[in-house]
Amino acid sequence: MSCVVVTGTQWGDEGKGKIVDYLAQQANVVVRFQGGSNAGHTVVVGGEAYKLRLMPSGILYKGSLCVVGNGVAFDPMIMLEEMDALKKRGIDLSGIRISNRAHVVLPYHRIMDGVGDEARGKEKIGTTKRGIGPCYMDRDNRIGIRVCDLMDKDELAKRLKENMARKNKELQALYGHEPLDYDAVLAEYLGYAERLRPYVCDTIALLNEEIKAGSKILFEGAQATMLDIDYGTYPYVTASHPISGGVGVGAGVAPNRIDKVVGIVKAYCTRVGEGPFPTEQLNAIGEKIRTDGHEFGVVTGRPRRTGWLDACVVRYAGLLSGIDYMAVTRLDILDDFDEIKMCVAYKYKGEILNEIPASLKVLAKVEPVYETFAGWKTSIRKVRSYDDLPEKAKQYLTRMAEVTGIALGIVSVGPNRDETIVLAKDIF
Ligand code: IMP
Repeated sequence: MSCVVVTGTQWGDEGKGKIVDYLAQQANVVVRFQGGSNAGHTVVVGGEAYKLRLMPSGILYKGSLCVVGNGVAFDPMIMLEEMDALKKRGIDLSGIRISNRAHVVLPYHRIMDGVGDEARGKEKIGTTKRGIGPCYMDRDNRIGIRVCDLMDKDELAKRLKENMARKNKELQALYGHEPLDYDAVLAEYLGYAERLRPYVCDTIALLNEEIKAGSKILFEGAQATMLDIDYGTYPYVTASHPISGGVGVGAGVAPNRIDKVVGIVKAYCTRVGEGPFPTEQLNAIGEKIRTDGHEFGVVTGRPRRTGWLDACVVRYAGLLSGIDYMAVTRLDILDDFDEIKMCVAYKYKGEILNEIPASLKVLAKVEPVYETFAGWKTSIRKVRSYDDLPEKAKQYLTRMAEVTGIALGIVSVGPNRDETIVLAKDIF
C-alpha cells in the first residue's frame, strides 16, 4: 500500500503539475481532494502541454483512475469542457470517477465570486472568480447542492428553486445584478447531469478499496499552504485546505493511511492576488524573475507577484503537512542571477520571530533576514544527477534543507519530464 500526498508549500504555482506528472506515472489512482477549477496545472507530456484545472493529472496516463473527491468544489461545466478538449486530443476518459458527495458550482456562485470580491473594494482578495468560495459557503451554510442531488432530477429542481429564489434576491439587493433564469439554469444542469452520470460514484468506498488492494494512490493538492483557509494569510486565502490534512476530509481517507508527503518548493516565491508577501521584490529583480520564469497565471493570465525564496514559509508548511521530502522546482530559472537571496528568518521590531505571525498587520511589517548566495551563472537544464549540479547550486539547496528541516527529494531543472533529478527513490 502506498498513499502519497503532494502539497504546495508557498502561495501556489510552485510547479506541482510537473512533480505530480512524475509521480502519477507510478500511481494507479490520482485524486483531487480540495479546491476546484481555481487551480491551473500545466503538465508537459511528450512535448505537449496540457493545462488542467479541475481534472486530476492522472488523466494523462493510460489505465489511471482519476478521482474528483468529495472535498472538491465541482464545476460540471468546466469538467465537461476539459473532458471535451482532452477527448479531441485522443485522451481516454474512462478512468474518471466523480464523488457523489462533491458540492456543485452553480452560475450564481461564479457571479457572486466576481461581484462579491469587487464589492470589497481595496480589501478585495483577488479571487479567480470561479465560484469556489461561494460554493463552499453554501456547503457550510448547509444549502449546497451536491453531485448526488445533481443526479436526481426532482431533488435538483427543488433545491435549485429554493436556492435561486434566495440568490436572485441577494444578487439584486446587494449588487444590483439582474436575476438568473431558473428554467435555463435547471435545463443546463440537467444536461450536464446526463453527460456526467456514468462517472459518478461513491469515491470514499472506491479509494478505501484501492488502498486495501495495495494500489498506489497520489493525492494531488491544488493551491498551497499559505492559501489554506485556516493556516494561510487569512483572509487572503482560498476556501479549502490544501495542506496534507485536507486529504482526510476531502477524500475520506484516514490520516494513518498516508505514507509520504511531498512538499513542492519553487526555488523562488510568487503569489497571485492580494495579501502580504514578505520577500516580494517590487524592482528589477522581481521583474527578471517574472520574465525568466514566465510567471503569469494559467487560469487568469494575471502577472504573478515575485520575490526571493521564503524558507520560513516552507518550514511552516513542513510542520503543518508533515512533509517528508521537498521537491524543488524551477531551479533553472535562477541560472542567470549574479546573486540569489533566501529569507531564513523574520524580524519584527528588532526581534527574531519564531512563528509565522497570525496577524497580517505584523506579517506585512516583518523584515526578512536574508542570506545571500553567489549565482551559478550557467544552465543546469542538462544536469541529471545531484552531484553534477554546480557547487553554488548545491550550496543553495543544502541551506534550503537545513533551514526548513526537510530532506531534499527531487530537483526540477526544466519543464520537461526528463529534466528532473530524483534523490529520493522511496516516494512510492
Ligand atoms: P479563490 O481560490 O478563487 O477563492 O481565490 C483566493 C485566492 O487564492 C486568490 O488570491 C487567488 O489568486 C488564489 N488562488 C486560487 N487558486 C490558485 C492557484 O491555483 N494558484 C495560485 N493562487 C491561487
